[in-house]
Amino acid sequence: MSDGSHTAVLSEQAVNGLNVRGDGVYVDCTFGRGGHSRLVLARLGRAGRLLALDRDAEAVAAGGAIDDRRFRILQGRFSRLGELVAAAGVTQADGILLDLGVSSPQLADPARGFSFRFDAPLDMRMDASSGITAADWLGAATQSEIREVIKTYGEERFAKQIAAAIVAARARGPVGTTRQLALLVAAAVPTREPRQDPATRTFQAIRIHVNQELEELSLVLPQCVELLQPGGRLVVISFHSLEDRIVKRFMRGEAHPDRLPLRLPVRARELAAPRLRTVGRARRPPSAEIGANPRARSAVMRVAERVGATA
Ligand SMILES: C[S@@+](CC[C@H](N)C(=O)[O-])C[C@H]1O[C@@H](n2cnc3c(N)ncnc32)[C@H](O)[C@@H]1O
Repeated sequence: MSDGSHTAVLSEQAVNGLNVRGDGVYVDCTFGRGGHSRLVLARLGRAGRLLALDRDAEAVAAGGAIDDRRFRILQGRFSRLGELVAAAGVTQADGILLDLGVSSPQLADPARGFSFRFDAPLDMRMDASSGITAADWLGAATQSEIREVIKTYGEERFAKQIAAAIVAARARGPVGTTRQLALLVAAAVPTREPRQDPATRTFQAIRIHVNQELEELSLVLPQCVELLQPGGRLVVISFHSLEDRIVKRFMRGEAHPDRLPLRLPVRARELAAPRLRTVGRARRPPSAEIGANPRARSAVMRVAERVGATA
């Protein structure tokens, strides 16, 4: 069962990256259980403000326990950032945090269907009130769609065999539980990776697909730039190489819009001005943090700062 706790990854580093000003306005797009949010609040003065978002109703309910007039939490997908912050009366921010992926309470709650460690309905939606469940998707997708998702998002070598096993099984009846899926994958995968359940990659891939995690990320990043005021910081912690690639390319593209193909007949003044500057290099958690919190193993943090129109 979930004990409701989540150990925030790179917590000090992320909040340092936000460069919190006492009277600033901050947005935590992924509240989870509020590990990062609480650190931001601890650095805010009386005039500061923190708006938190999460698409998961249980996370939002947990946020309700923070009794602080500087804090507000709303339920919603961060791909609707612009709309959500506008509804909360926020027009500009001094810092925005994205700590991507799922939280420990989501993984630890058998009823949510994220984990192969328990037997439960195969749901996997972060917002259990909208979108298609993993079971429904597995029942409707073509074999090649299933293979592509497992191969791309799970970086799974045996995606072809797993997709074939799922499609063969569903001809006999729905693949509706986490245990069914875990057993199917274990039987389809010919070799094992040390210290990893054979279903790990497949579960991760289906979760990323069902929650449209990469699309959400691609949609929120430009909205973050729009919302930040000059000097404001964007901090993103990713847990998957595809996520980090999206963040890296986006930040570089915004920092160097002038990197056009050579010999194009463009004058300097026609080039778009940079909207971000990257701050430092990508950071990974120290080994002590990884030792204490295995979730930190794949974390990568990137920080960028909004550049003013005249900077
Ligand atoms: C890794 S946890 C964040 C943990 C948090 N930083 C803490 O310290 O407790 C990610 C959270 O983001 C939420 N989330 C993921 N994708 C989201 C999206 N597109 N829109 C809103 N919330 C999202 C998840 O529901 C989950 O609660």
